Amino acid sequence: MSDAHKIGIIGGSGMLGRAIAHALLDRMALPPSDLWIANRSGSRAGFEQFPGVHVTTDNALLCDACDTLILSVPPALASDIGIRIPGKLVMSVMAGVTLGELQALTGSDRVVRAMSSPAAELGLAYSPWVASPGVDATNRDHVTSILSACGITDEIGNESHLDHFTAMTGPVPGFVAFYAECMIDYAVSAGIAPAIADRAIRQLFFAAGAMLAHGQASPADHVQQMIDYAGTTAAGLTSMKNAGVSAAIAEGLDAAVEKARTLR
Ligand SMILES: NC(=O)c1ccc[n+]([C@@H]2O[C@H](COP(=O)([O-])OP(=O)(O)OC[C@H]3O[C@@H](n4cnc5c(N)ncnc54)[C@H](OP(=O)(O)O)[C@@H]3O)[C@@H](O)[C@H]2O)c1
Repeated sequence: MSDAHKIGIIGGSGMLGRAIAHALLDRMALPPSDLWIANRSGSRAGFEQFPGVHVTTDNALLCDACDTLILSVPPALASDIGIRIPGKLVMSVMAGVTLGELQALTGSDRVVRAMSSPAAELGLAYSPWVASPGVDATNRDHVTSILSACGITDEIGNESHLDHFTAMTGPVPGFVAFYAECMIDYAVSAGIAPAIADRAIRQLFFAAGAMLAHGQASPADHVQQMIDYAGTTAAGLTSMKNAGVSAAIAEGLDAAVEKARTLR
């Protein structure tokens, strides 16, 4: 990778910033010396095995050294980063910070608003993004290669949908962990040993995740197949649907989306 692709992550030592940094080092083959991290503490925790990575407490120094900036500080602290970088490509993974706010915060007209997740470290994140009109085709390719190193990515057309992804795919394992917890609690209440219940349900979610990720059948296809089979799962699904579980899930996701819109 050439000097034209030095990448700086403001907040790169945080949970998400560090996951993205490791994705870039591991899967985009970014040389450590082309990666800059900025934070307030100067901590280089998580980068001990990469002594070549630059760590600074000076956000402006990072911006001078890098061509692409990734902003990954908590949304409530976004206005503290104090940078003016007109003309530079800026990507943000901060929940709820709009393209307009990113332009005002940085002075750049080349801004990208993305959502990702700490699963980036394993190359398993889903990272949708939108870009301001100033982001050209070369920039878009660069954004795609950065977010592809984190997992799967899509450029989406509607900025407000990023609030939905912030609620649904930003938190990993997020709501899926809640469903797994419900199943473990149910198994334990039936007298199954907690360790066995835990092991069984983790394996169920591992297998289900792999089947849903890689198989041809959509989730709706799987549900229909189980209903058509008319066995134990169909009985359970019918009961859950009659109990209003789908509406309760939609209501919960609505609350999460609303929270994503009011984080700053
Ligand atoms: N974690 C997730 O699951 C997740 C998922 C989707 C999106 N996000 C988004 O990712 C962003 C980061 O979240 P996180 O969970 O990674 O937060 P975090 O673990 O609290 O990390 C925040 C990072 O920002 C640094 N920081 C804070 N203020 C700074 C400043 N003024 N200048 C430079 N660095 C600063 C912190 O280091 P110091 O304390 O040393 O300054 C730390 O490296 C948030 O906007 C969040 O909405 C997170």
